[in-house]
Amino acid sequence: MITNSYPMERRRREEARRRWMLAHQVPAEASSVRVARLLRTLATGEPSVWHHGQRVAWFAIRIGAGLDVDLAQLYLAGLLHDIGKLALPAELLAKPGALTPAEQTWMRMHPDLGAAVLPQERSLGLVYAGVRYHHERWDGAGYPTGLRGEAIPLAARILAIADSLDAICMDRPYRPRRPFSVALDTVSRAAGQQFDPALVEIAVRALAKHPAPPRPAGPPAPAFALPLAATTPAFIN
Ligand SMILES: [Fe+2]
Repeated sequence: MITNSYPMERRRREEARRRWMLAHQVPAEASSVRVARLLRTLATGEPSVWHHGQRVAWFAIRIGAGLDVDLAQLYLAGLLHDIGKLALPAELLAKPGALTPAEQTWMRMHPDLGAAVLPQERSLGLVYAGVRYHHERWDGAGYPTGLRGEAIPLAARILAIADSLDAICMDRPYRPRRPFSVALDTVSRAAGQQFDPALVEIAVRALAKHPAPPRPAGPPAPAFALPLAATTPAFIN
C-alpha cells in the first residue's frame, strides 16, 4: 500500500519552523546576549543535545590546550556545535532507529542551520567555524561543504574528534555505550580518513590519562548568562 507521507512531512516542517523561530527570534541584540540566549535555549529546549555539547566542549579544550587556538571560543563552539538541531523536528532527534534517507538529509542540515543563528561577528569566527564545519572529514567525504584536510578550520577538526569520542561513549538504541578506551581506539583507527592524524595523536596523549566525563550529565543546567566560567561543567578541574 502506498501511504501519503505529505501530512507528516508538513507537520515536521511546521514544527521545524516553530523551533527555528525559537532560536532565531533574537534580532538586534549584542552578540554576547544572543549567545547566552542560544545557550539557554539549547539547555532548556534539548537537554540531551546540551549535555552532549558540554562533554564535547570538555574533550575539545583538552585536545586544544597546547595548540594555537582560543580555548574560550573553542569551549563555546563545543557547547553550541549542535545548536542547529533545535531547528529540526523533535521526533527526528528522538527517533530510536536508523534515519531514512530523507531524514538524513534533514539531519545533515544542522551545521548550516546552527551557523545561521550565530552572531555574524569576526570575534566569534572560531565558534562559527566549529559549528558549521564539525561534520567535515579529513578525507573530504564529510558535510556540509566537503572541505578536506587543513582547509577544514582547526576548531572544527578538534570538534570532530571530540564529537565522535562522546558519541561512541553514549547509549544508542542499537548498541550500548562503549568504554572510553574503545572510543579512543576507534578514533585512532580513523586518523587520516575521518580525522586529522596529527590532532588524533594529540587527543590520545591528552585524554588517555583523563577519565571520561561522567554520563549522563544530569538534569538540565539552569538558565545562566555569560561569562563562560559559569558554564563550565563541574567535572572540569
Ligand atoms: Fe553535529
